[in-house]
Amino acid sequence: MNRRDAVKLMGAGGLGLYLASRLSSAKALNSILSGNDLTKEMFGKDFKWGTATAAYQIEGAYNIDGKGESIWDRFTANPKHVKTRENGNVACDFYHLYKTDLRLMKEMNFGCFRFSTAWARILPEGIGKVNQNGLDFYHHMIDFCLELGIEPWLTLYHWDLPQALQDKGGWVNRDVISWFNEYTDVVTCSLGGKVKNWMVLNEPVSFIGGGYLGGIHPPGHINLKEGIAASHHAVLCQAEGARVIRANVPGANIGTTFSCAHIDPKNTRHMHEKAAAKLDALSNRLFIEPALGMGYPTDVLPFFKKVEKYMKDGDEQKMKFDFDFIGLQNYTRFVARFALIPPVIWGNIVPAKKVTKEVLNEMGWEIYPKGIYEILKQFSKYPIKTFILTENGVAVKDKVEDGKVHDARRTQFFKDYLAYVLKAKNEGINVNGYFVWSLMDNFEWAEGYRPKLGLVAVDFKTQQRIIKDSGLWFKEFLK
Ligand code: FCB
Repeated sequence: MNRRDAVKLMGAGGLGLYLASRLSSAKALNSILSGNDLTKEMFGKDFKWGTATAAYQIEGAYNIDGKGESIWDRFTANPKHVKTRENGNVACDFYHLYKTDLRLMKEMNFGCFRFSTAWARILPEGIGKVNQNGLDFYHHMIDFCLELGIEPWLTLYHWDLPQALQDKGGWVNRDVISWFNEYTDVVTCSLGGKVKNWMVLNEPVSFIGGGYLGGIHPPGHINLKEGIAASHHAVLCQAEGARVIRANVPGANIGTTFSCAHIDPKNTRHMHEKAAAKLDALSNRLFIEPALGMGYPTDVLPFFKKVEKYMKDGDEQKMKFDFDFIGLQNYTRFVARFALIPPVIWGNIVPAKKVTKEVLNEMGWEIYPKGIYEILKQFSKYPIKTFILTENGVAVKDKVEDGKVHDARRTQFFKDYLAYVLKAKNEGINVNGYFVWSLMDNFEWAEGYRPKLGLVAVDFKTQQRIIKDSGLWFKEFLK
């Protein structure tokens, strides 16, 4: 029964009935899915539990021990590019404090650590001369993981292209494929003996969308042509990089990650449904379908046919790779409506119209636990072997009080989302891992340090760490 039906029933009796029906459906939901009843055993003993991070967001040490400049170093050097006028120069200083942070992870009973390698730390100019100090840092950090019994999960590209390569055109230049292969070769040859779990790219739709369509991430362009070329090159790197890993790392478990969001139309009018289909193609299908050999979803996104200009003979084949797992990263859902302005091509995302303020997180993203279930169901229609949820988390305002952080809302978020992950798993979807974004509060790109997504609070002045209540909840849960 919806609200309109209740109004129709009229009078206190009708309203009572309506409220009772709401309560009983909430109860029914709770009895099946209450986060309080969850146990880690319900997910199976092989299920991977981890936390996720990215180099630029945590490492700091932006210009020492031979590290080269990355596009994020350059971009944040102009304070106008970040809402809070901050940068990742020091961030969590993970470069020096990694032992502290990995011990905290261990204390919370997580078994897997997802991190990325900073390309410019390893190859300061992007290609050519290798910086041994950079590789040594990752060796030491990974050795410490292994010493603690933590499995390293390595992402090759989490958005920090070397600036030297940006100066040559970056993702728009097709040469990025050979640059990326060279980098992947160096990293896999050096670290492949210790790392078995690999992810090629982190959310291509975000770094291409942010960098070339929205202008909010480096290189800060708004240029559809560049965006299309960059997308195609990222799709090729995704598969070519995976092939390099396969060749260099025996027994590697190879994946790549996609951001994804369940999408609802504003209502069932055809034009809104069409807008929702476009938004779905753009945000959920564009980068995975070519990897699966399905080509680009140009049926729904005719503007993307321009990609043909950048396609060479054999590209269709080269875009494909048989991934061992697909990493899905889910934070929210979108509600789409048709709009003339801004561009009709990708529909228009309508947040907060259909949803109330109470369910928006600190970044304005809707908290919609069922969305993670819907998205797993949607992606399970593809021939994918295993899903790993490589990121899920929430920005919540929190503060340290007497040495504690009472972030009950974040804990509730995890319980609600995990309940839906379990529902998907119980319905036969092969989801086999869950990584919290993020281990600790960190530099949230163009938003600065304001949004807090960590299980561990970081005081960025003193570099003190405190495990939040949500982290303590995981500690108990994963015991
Ligand atoms: C994801 C990014 C990650 C972090 C979270 C909040 O899209 O992969 O680095 O910024 O959002």
